Amino acid sequence: MSESSSFDSLMTITKRPPIVMVEGQGSWLTDSTGKRYLDFIQGWAVNSLGHAPSVISQAISSQAARLISPSPAFYNQQAICLAVLLTANSCFERVFFANSGAEANEGAIKLARKWGSLHKAGAYEIITMVNGFHGRTLATMSASGKPHWQELFEPKVPGFVKVALNELEAVRAAISERTVAIMLEPVQGEAGVIPASQSFLQGLRQLADEYKLLLIFDEVQAGMRRLGTLFAYQQAGIEPDIMTLGKGIGGGVPLAALLAKEAVCCFEPGDQGGTYNGNPLMAAVGCAVLETMLQPGFLEQVRERGAQLANGLRKLSTRRGLGEVRGNGLLLALALPAANGDAIAEAARDLGLLINAARPDTLRLMPALNVSEDEVELCLTLLDQVFAQSL
Ligand SMILES: Cc1ncc(COP(=O)(O)O)c(C=O)c1O
Repeated sequence: MSESSSFDSLMTITKRPPIVMVEGQGSWLTDSTGKRYLDFIQGWAVNSLGHAPSVISQAISSQAARLISPSPAFYNQQAICLAVLLTANSCFERVFFANSGAEANEGAIKLARKWGSLHKAGAYEIITMVNGFHGRTLATMSASGKPHWQELFEPKVPGFVKVALNELEAVRAAISERTVAIMLEPVQGEAGVIPASQSFLQGLRQLADEYKLLLIFDEVQAGMRRLGTLFAYQQAGIEPDIMTLGKGIGGGVPLAALLAKEAVCCFEPGDQGGTYNGNPLMAAVGCAVLETMLQPGFLEQVRERGAQLANGLRKLSTRRGLGEVRGNGLLLALALPAANGDAIAEAARDLGLLINAARPDTLRLMPALNVSEDEVELCLTLLDQVFAQSL
C-alpha cells in the first residue's frame, strides 16, 4: 500500500500536507523522501530541547527498563522528583500531573469549582478571555474564546464568561457573586502571540485579592522557559494561585502539570485522577527536561536567540514592508499585511523551513529553546527568500 492511500485510515482532524516525517534531530526534521526541514514549529512549541535530545532518549530508555507504571495508587520516585523540582523553582506548593495541556486545564477548572463550593458559597463561574485557548476537551473548549468555536458541540459546559484581553474594567464589570476565578494565558499563543500587558496581569491580581477570586495562569505554551524565565508569571512580578503547564515540560512526550498554592489544594480522594497521571516514564522525562532548563546559561541562551530572531524579523519586516513583531523569548510572531499566512508557510516548507500561521495574517515561530545562532540566521535567510518570491 502506498503511503498516500493509507492516509485515509486516520480521522481527518486537521489539514495536513502529504508528507510523512520519519526522523528528527535537534532543529531538523526529515521526511520519508529524505528532504530535511529546519523546524521552527517544533511540535507546536513542544520539543523544548529539539528533536530526539539524548537527555530524553536516555531518560526514557533507562526508566522504561526499570518501571513504567506502578499505577497512580502508589507513589513513584520520578513523579516525586519532578514535583519537588517544580515546587522548589516556583511559587506553588503542590502538583498534579496530567497527560495534556487540556487535561491540566480541566483540573484547574475543577479545582477552582471545588474551592468555590467550599470557600465561596458555591461560586463556579470563571472569567476567561476572548480569543483565549485552553484546549479541546468540552470544558476547555467552553473556556476558550475562539470566535468560530462558539457554535461547535453545543451545548457547551456552562460557567465561563468571556472578556477582552487587557481590559481590566471589563473584567471588574464581569465579576458577580457567582465568580470564582479568572483564567488566562499570559501570552495568547494560538490567537497569534498576543501578550497580556504587565499592568493588566498586576491589575488582575489586585482584583482577585479584592473579590476573593482565584487567578489561574495557563502557561501550557508560555511556560517552561519559552519566554526566557522559567514561568511567564515571573515576568509580571505577581503570583497566580493556580498554573498549568504542558508542551515544553515533556520535551515532546505527553506530560502536563497543574500547580497550585497550598491554600487552594482542596481535592479529596476521588475528585481527580487518571490511569497515566504521574507515571514514572513521563515524569522521568520531565525531570531530565527541567534539570536541563535549570542549568547555568540556559536562560541566557533563550534570551540571546530570542533577541537575535526578533531583531532579524524586525529588519525583515522593514525591508519587505510587513507588520509588527510580537512576543518574547522564543515565542514570536510576525504580522503580515495580508491574510496569506498559510500560503507563506507552505512556500517556506517548500524551501525547507517549517513555520506556522497561527492566524491567517500572522506567522508564529517557536523553535527549540537550544536552537543555534546559525540556525536562527538560516531561518531568517529562508524567510527572506520566501518573501522575495511571494511579493
Ligand atoms: C495555552 C494553551 N493551553 C492549552 C493547550 C492545550 O494543550 P494540549 O494540546 O496539550 O491539550 C494549548 C495547546 O496549544 C495551549 O496553547
